[in-house]
Amino acid sequence: MVRVLFVCLGNICRSPSAEGIFRFIVKKHGIEKLFYIDSAGTSAYHVGERADDRMRKNASKRGYDLTSLSRRFTLKDFEDFDYILAMDQNNYRDIIEMDSRGESRDKIKMMNDFSENYLHRDVPDPYYGGVEGFNRVIDILEDSCSGLLKFIRDHEEF
Ligand code: 4NP
Repeated sequence: MVRVLFVCLGNICRSPSAEGIFRFIVKKHGIEKLFYIDSAGTSAYHVGERADDRMRKNASKRGYDLTSLSRRFTLKDFEDFDYILAMDQNNYRDIIEMDSRGESRDKIKMMNDFSENYLHRDVPDPYYGGVEGFNRVIDILEDSCSGLLKFIRDHEEF
């Protein structure tokens, strides 16, 4: 079982989308039983909430069902997951700071390091913008989720 956690700030826009898109791709390949997939936020701003309505609506139009409820990233996640994917550099720094002894350093990665077409480091936060920001998040994550799956298939034994 490969355990993958996507992390953003609020866990209501980018990381629930990454979770939904990655789940979809893994299922399309018929290997969903090999994965445990989840998402979390570095903040507690929206704990217990469903993904943002605008994010869910735009994801749904593209065939992705976002079902997660927001939860905060915790220290236990370092034990519970093999891959921890930060959506932007602030998320990355916050996670790295929580890993104070550096024991999980190798499993913490930037999501866009796996994208082939988007060369920016961050998945931009769509929360305060218009509809195009939500669609852009989906475009970026479709690219980086398939790159991530390729990477995992190359590095895990299946
Ligand atoms: P997310 O987007 O980190 O992609 O879930 C945000 C959601 C909420 C806030 C910021 C970003 N907020 O400030 O409440």
